Amino acid sequence: MKAQCVSLCLLGTTLWLCSAHARGLRTCLISTNLRLIEESFRGIKQAIQAKDTLQNVTILSPSETLHGMKALDVCCMTKNLLAFYVDRVFKDHQELDPRILRKISSIANSFLYMQKTLQQCQRLCHCRQEATNATRIIHDNYAQLEVRSAAIKSLGELDIFLAWIEKNHQGTSAASRPET
Ligand SMILES: *[C@@H]1O[C@H](CO)[C@@H](O)[C@H](O)[C@H]1NC(C)=O
Ligand SMILES: *[C@@H]1O[C@H](CO)[C@@H](O)[C@H](O)[C@H]1NC(C)=O
Repeated sequence: MKAQCVSLCLLGTTLWLCSAHARGLRTCLISTNLRLIEESFRGIKQAIQAKDTLQNVTILSPSETLHGMKALDVCCMTKNLLAFYVDRVFKDHQELDPRILRKISSIANSFLYMQKTLQQCQRLCHCRQEATNATRIIHDNYAQLEVRSAAIKSLGELDIFLAWIEKNHQGTSAASRPET
């Protein structure tokens, strides 16, 4: 009887955690206006991508890392990729054009803000081996290039990351979508 209760309780807790996970993710990112970030990026996308001369390599390597990522891994992968951009890409990139720099700073600030909001539900943001491996692939790809090329290429691939966030945090982006 006691054992049965324990397993029932565990099941209940798991179910509660799962729904809290879905809810948590939503409230965690809902306050971020993805559209504003996309807009900032659109303004510099051409200039950034034009500086990226290595067309045949990819850092985010979406087919290996992002596509087919399970819903369970979305929170962790989002967290890891935000950290990748904040701790590595934005720091490594040296921008001379003040107009582009302003946009990049604005995106960086939004990412910092998203990191903070994600941290509020970090206990629900479980990292499985799949997400850890995918993150390692990205860091390895980055390390294989010369640092400036790697930073430019990763900036140019922001649209891949943004589209992935949008696709995987539906409801979130819908809530912040302006009327068109
Ligand atoms: C990418 O292309 C350059 C020349 O355009 C070549 O030197 C390099 O080896 C290629 N890299 C890969 C990973 O195919
Ligand atoms: C993660 O990578 C390790 C080492 O490359 C591998 O042994 C393991 O099977 C991978 N795990 C998953 C879940 O992809």
